[in-house]
Amino acid sequence: MRQVKDIDAFLKKLHYFDKKFKLFINQNNDHLIVEYPELCGIIDEYSSFIINHDNEKQWNNLDKSIEILPLVENLRSNSSVCIQIMEKHRALVLSHENEEITDYFRNIEDCIEKEFGGFQITSQSKVLLVGSGPFPITLLMIAERTGAEVFGIDIDNEAVQLGKHVVNKLGSQLSIQIDNKTVRELSVIKQITHIIFSSTVSCKYDILDQLYDLTNKDVLIAMRYGNGLKSLFNYPMQEVDEHKWYIKEKTVHPQSVFDVILYQKVQ
Ligand SMILES: C[S@@+](CC[C@H](N)C(=O)[O-])C[C@H]1O[C@@H](n2cnc3c(N)ncnc32)[C@H](O)[C@@H]1O
Repeated sequence: MRQVKDIDAFLKKLHYFDKKFKLFINQNNDHLIVEYPELCGIIDEYSSFIINHDNEKQWNNLDKSIEILPLVENLRSNSSVCIQIMEKHRALVLSHENEEITDYFRNIEDCIEKEFGGFQITSQSKVLLVGSGPFPITLLMIAERTGAEVFGIDIDNEAVQLGKHVVNKLGSQLSIQIDNKTVRELSVIKQITHIIFSSTVSCKYDILDQLYDLTNKDVLIAMRYGNGLKSLFNYPMQEVDEHKWYIKEKTVHPQSVFDVILYQKVQ
């Protein structure tokens, strides 16, 4: 009886987030939204929900029936649209506001710290981020802390323009280049030593497959992903072609909104 009640409460919460995300997306005509503090609040609440161990239990007990799957898909894609709105707003107000950093962004910054585990990026590295976003905090942190040459690509041209604006404001002295290009179009791709995938890039495993022929033999891939409850916020891990890529390291970070797998080429 208790279990049914807990699952009911869990489902109710999922519907609550679904409704909130849809509301923000419908209200968002331009990116300077008055509801920004509320949006940050709901994303922070969602981040805490995703990493809450008790909710993991409810998720595991949930019957993943046909009715639940569209809700999960909606939550994943709409939460990622909301993050995009939030990042665009954060990029636009950068020049004239001393903005409080949200728990979500703090969590992402902690994730970046842990990303490559023992595989240190050095000043000799060339790092590519697929899905750099309008507020490319990953690019800035890596370039600043390691001195590496850093590249970002994004399919959203507005995200690319805002990303360049943020880099100009916060890291104009750093070696960071952002482009609206595919991995195939990047002339530097053969020299790239490390590649990071944003977890909200839906076709990240298709791109990983293409990268086998495009990159050098020692390239190291950090794939951000989220399985189980975390798949409400991230695209999950998938099988890879075992003749192309193998898992070098897989670490789960219970307190982070996404986890990371490191892949390397099968030689
Ligand atoms: C907002 S960032 C989110 C960063 C977040 N920390 C993460 O790890 O997912 C995700 C970016 O990926 C971009 N994106 C989505 N699909 C993509 C693709 N196929 N190629 C390049 N960028 C993509 C989106 O436009 C968005 O700007």
